[in-house]
Amino acid sequence: MHLLRDRGFRHATPSDITPRAVYRQRRQLLALGGAAALAGAFGTNAHAQAARPGKLAALPGTRSALPGALVMDKPTAYADASTYNNFYEFGTEKSDPARHARSLKTRPWTVAVEGEVKKPGTYDIEALLKLAPMEERIYRLRCVEGWSMVIPWVGYSLAELVRRVEPTGNAKFVQFVTLADRRQMPGLASSVLDWPYVEGLRLDEATHPLALLTFGMYGEVLPNQNGAPLRLVVPWKYGFKSGKSLVKIRFVDKQPKTSWELAAPDEYGFYSNVNPQVDHPRWSQATERRIGEDGLLARKRATLMFNGYEPQVGQLYAGMDLRRQF
Ligand code: MTE
Repeated sequence: MHLLRDRGFRHATPSDITPRAVYRQRRQLLALGGAAALAGAFGTNAHAQAARPGKLAALPGTRSALPGALVMDKPTAYADASTYNNFYEFGTEKSDPARHARSLKTRPWTVAVEGEVKKPGTYDIEALLKLAPMEERIYRLRCVEGWSMVIPWVGYSLAELVRRVEPTGNAKFVQFVTLADRRQMPGLASSVLDWPYVEGLRLDEATHPLALLTFGMYGEVLPNQNGAPLRLVVPWKYGFKSGKSLVKIRFVDKQPKTSWELAAPDEYGFYSNVNPQVDHPRWSQATERRIGEDGLLARKRATLMFNGYEPQVGQLYAGMDLRRQF
């Protein structure tokens, strides 16, 4: 399909890039503290290199200049972000995706763009990787289950893709369909959800610059368990809105059903904005446990409205009753 040229973005320079080794060094510094540690971490760069698993390809991105795109909280350890996952296609235990997603084949890979667009078509992953300049965005991710992480993602605004496929006047919502392949995904044998996993956004949510089409994390391509080769990250909504391993993006005129709404309509609404004032029917949403801070004495954190992105996204919901449209 014809791709327009990118406009107005800075390309990555080496000094903008924060690969995983650097995060690891920063974490070592935080953990060890003091001048000796400083000398150690910086003096033996080879040490940090050697400690890397290092089998994933580098995917650097320019640090984003978008307001709200770089939260200052300490990033979650890569080891936690890549082993404590929800990806039900590979099982419902947190450790299942890291164990079972190894076999996921992420090449060749295409994403179909369908429905109310002037330029429908099938995009190859290699073309998508080049569609717009990659940025690094450090987002909080808040799961509806009450835990959160801080992850340096790499990707570009979903709006970049949406703009190029030219939605028609009838396009009001966008549906995201993720891979459902029984041969590769043992979790599909379970009826916990209707497969494929589907999610949706209103068109103005999908084109909000913070909605990230994501290809990597911690300076590298996504590990399979985090949704390789591409996924969505919508940081102001509960994590389940961020579909992994996308295969289809459909522009539609009516609000599409989502997998979680179909599974439990009283518990999971279409909007699913992070909202500490609207409890899940079975638990409070007022606080969260930050993964990595879960010692006995660790205090829970207060959950923030729209996960802390209210200044950027609050306007999208002006006039809505968020208790009813949860
Ligand atoms: N995407 C698919 N295809 N299948 C899933 O089960 N789980 C969601 C979301 N995307 C899920 C998915 C949920 S509940 C969360 S919290 C996030 O992925 C977790 O993303 P992470 O494992 O990268 O932190």
